[in-house]
Amino acid sequence: MRYLFLAMILAACLVVGMFGFRGHKFSDTPVELFPDMDRQGRVNAQSKSAFFADGAGSRIPVAGVLPMGFSIPENPVEDGDPILDGFTLPGSYFNSGRIGEYYGDGMPEELQVDQALLARGRARFGIYCAICHGASGDGEGTLANFGNMRPIANLHMPQFSDPANPQYRPDGELFEVITIGRARMGAYGSAIPAADRWAIIAYVRALQDAVKKAAAASAGGKEKNTENPEPAVDAPATSQ
Ligand code: HEC
Repeated sequence: MRYLFLAMILAACLVVGMFGFRGHKFSDTPVELFPDMDRQGRVNAQSKSAFFADGAGSRIPVAGVLPMGFSIPENPVEDGDPILDGFTLPGSYFNSGRIGEYYGDGMPEELQVDQALLARGRARFGIYCAICHGASGDGEGTLANFGNMRPIANLHMPQFSDPANPQYRPDGELFEVITIGRARMGAYGSAIPAADRWAIIAYVRALQDAVKKAAAASAGGKEKNTENPEPAVDAPATSQ
């Protein structure tokens, strides 16, 4: 037993002698059992490298790469300046969603409302909004299943889609919600240029119309069915 203790003390001395006390500073390169990727091949910025055929360390961006962000306006934005690429929020309806002190409704005259605008809005909605609000705008996006995100606004609720609702948010108000955020929703004004915000609003309106039309159609369908007891021709045979 005595020899065992002696052997253990000896082993401890050996380990401390080789590796030092914890926190001890060495001037020599330490013994590295696991190098932890401390040292690896790399290229200094703007320096030569034999690794690449052209001998340059830095790579030239692939053709067609765009700088992050968008085109920078040539002149600083002035109040009421209708710049189409703007991220700022000066006075014009296009850039603020407001006419004077009030929210405006309808698309600003700088934009042409056509299929291209809706397609743009659909793509941007898919990128920025659908993760929370759902692809159909019903507030059931992927993030509704995480954390305490719920409730996420269902954009088909009357206060968003029915102009007769006293709480109705006109286009200009939606523009402001996207730009500076509201309540638990963050601001997207620094990520989405003004023209794209309007495109998203146009697309949200199209989504709302689609849902309203579908609701009207199904109500109409029910009425028809009561008049005509025969089942619809294309109804699957198994459905009850
Ligand atoms: C990270 C999740 C998230 C994203 C992304 C998001 N929203 Fe929201 N949004 C919310 C939540 C949550 C609310 C409810 C806010 C509250 O009432 O507390 C909300 C509310 C709204 C409202 C209602 C505001 C009001 O007046 O009550 C609108 C309109 C809206 N969002 C539009 C959008 C649009 C358009 C986009 C895309 C540009 C977008 N949201 C992106 C989470 C999100």
